[in-house]
Amino acid sequence: MTRAPTALLVLALLLAILAGGLLWYTGDRLPGGRPAEIGVADIGGPFALTDQNGLRRTDKDFRGRYVLLYFGYTYCPDVCPTTLGVMSDALAKLGTRSSRIVPVFVTIDPERDTPAALKKYLAAFGPNFVGLTGSLADVTSVAHEYRVYFAKQKLDGGGYALDHSSVIYLLGPDGKLAKFYDEAITPDRLAKDLNTIL
Ligand code: NI
Repeated sequence: MTRAPTALLVLALLLAILAGGLLWYTGDRLPGGRPAEIGVADIGGPFALTDQNGLRRTDKDFRGRYVLLYFGYTYCPDVCPTTLGVMSDALAKLGTRSSRIVPVFVTIDPERDTPAALKKYLAAFGPNFVGLTGSLADVTSVAHEYRVYFAKQKLDGGGYALDHSSVIYLLGPDGKLAKFYDEAITPDRLAKDLNTIL
C-alpha cells in the first residue's frame, strides 16, 4: 500500500536536491533496489519532540552518533513493523559497533502514539530504540522536513489507517542526512552498508 507513495517520495527527494543545486548523487545501483546515495544539506532539520519516557529530545541530543531515522505509526499492520525489524536485525548484526547508531522512530500518528504506546511497541525491537511523538503540528513539521508523505484513510467499520512513505534515513554525527534506504533493503545489506560507513 505504501509502495507508490515511496516511489513518489524518492522522486520528490531527488527533485528537492536538484532544485537546491547541491546535488551529489552517485547513480550506482544493484538489482533489487539499492539505496540512492546522497550528500546534501537540504533534507532534514531540527526537531524537538517527546520520547517514550516522556523526556524532551531534540536533534542536538544525537550529535556525535549516527541516527537511523524512520517515520511510521504503531497501528501500522505491515510496513512499519517489517522495517523496524530490518533496522533491529541490521543493528544486531553489527554487534558492539551498533552503539554508534541510534535507531529513532518518529510517529506520524501522535493521536494514538503516546509516549506509553511507543514504549510498549518499541520494546519488541530492542532496548536502543528511541520513539518520538509530539503535537500533530510538531510531528507534521518534522515529517515535512524529511519529505515524508502521510495521509489518513478512514477504515470501513470505524477507525483509521495512515498511508505513508517508507524510507530509512541515515543521519551522520553532524545531524545531517547522509543517506537513505528504501523499503527493499534487507538486514544483511543494511548491516554491510553501515559497516562500511562506521
Ligand atoms: Ni507503516
